[in-house]
Amino acid sequence: MVDHAEVMKSPLEVIWDWSYEIEQSKLEDLYVKAKNEQWNADVEVDWSRSVDPGGGILDEDRMPIYKMKFFQKLSKTQHETFNAKNSAWILSQLLHGEQGALMVAGELVAAVPDYEAKLYVASQAMDEARHVEVFARYIRKLDTIYPVQPTLKSILKSIMETPHWQAKTVGMQVILEGLALGTFINVRAATGCKLLAEMLQYVTKDEARHVAFGNIYLTHAIKDMHPDDRAEVEDFALDVTRKVVAMRRGIEGFAGFDKVLMDSGIDPQDFLKALHVEVAEGLKLSGSPGTVHTFKGLIMPGIVRAGLVSDRVRPGYDEANIAVFSDTAILEAFEDTGEVRAG
Ligand SMILES: [Fe+2]
Ligand SMILES: [Fe+2]
Repeated sequence: MVDHAEVMKSPLEVIWDWSYEIEQSKLEDLYVKAKNEQWNADVEVDWSRSVDPGGGILDEDRMPIYKMKFFQKLSKTQHETFNAKNSAWILSQLLHGEQGALMVAGELVAAVPDYEAKLYVASQAMDEARHVEVFARYIRKLDTIYPVQPTLKSILKSIMETPHWQAKTVGMQVILEGLALGTFINVRAATGCKLLAEMLQYVTKDEARHVAFGNIYLTHAIKDMHPDDRAEVEDFALDVTRKVVAMRRGIEGFAGFDKVLMDSGIDPQDFLKALHVEVAEGLKLSGSPGTVHTFKGLIMPGIVRAGLVSDRVRPGYDEANIAVFSDTAILEAFEDTGEVRAG
C-alpha cells in the first residue's frame, strides 16, 4: 500500500430502500436546493489571483500565540515565514476535516434508511468533494499541506469507527463541521486574501444545507433510536466535544506543531519552553470569539437540538467546564440565509 494511505475500519450497515417513495418533503426540498446550488470551482473561483503568503491570510489578533513575547522578538522575515506556515497548518487541519466529511457523507448514502435522505446525502458528498478540492488547491498555492494534528486525528478515527450512523453524523456534521464553520465564518470576515474569502463564501453556503440536514433529519432519527443506542450516541457526543475543547483550549493543541516551527527556522524546544512560561504567567490559549462564537452559536446548540444532552450526560459537560448553550437562533438563521449574524 502507498505510504500516504491509512486504513480505518467502519462498522456501518448498508440499508436499501426499495420503495423509492419520498415521505419527507423537507428533505426533498433540501435535495432540490442542493442541485440548484451546485458550483464548479474551476469556473466560479478565479485561481489566477496570487496569494501573498507573508501576511493577512489569517487574523493575527484572534490568535493567542501571536500575543506571546516569544513571537514579538522575531524578525520581520521570520514573522512572515511563520505566518505563511502557520496559516497553511491551520488550513490543512480544515482540509483533513473536509476529507472526513467527504467520507462520512459517502458512508451515509449507504447507511441512512430513507430513499430521500440517500439522495440528499449524495449531494452532500459532492459538496464535500468540492471542499476538499478547493482547500487542497488553496493550501498548495499558499505553501504546503501539513499532516493531521494528532488530537484531530483521534477524533476523526473515533468518528470513522462508531457503529451508529447517527453518532457519525453528530461527530462529523454537528461537532467537527460546526468547528470548521466557525473558522470559515471568522476567517472570511477577517482575511486580507480575496481568493480565500471568495472560496470560503461558496463553501459556507454549502454548509448551510448541511446544518439544515441535521435539523430536518438527524434530530428525528436520534429520537427514534432505542434508548440504549441513544445513550451511546449521547456519550459519544460528549467525548468528541471534550476532545475538541482540549484541542482548542490547551497545550495539547500544539501537538504536531513542531514541523511548522522548524520550517519557520524556530527551535520547537525554545517555543515550548516559552509557551509553558507564558501560560504560567497568564497567557490564555483560547482565541477571541470573532464574528461568531463557535461553541455558543453553532456546536452546543446543534448537540442540544439533536436531543443529546440528557440529564444523564449533562454533568459530564459541567465537569469538563463546557457551557450547554441551547439558543438555536444563530443556527436557524444560518440555515435560512447561509449568513451568520454576530453572536
Ligand atoms: Fe465541508
Ligand atoms: Fe459539510
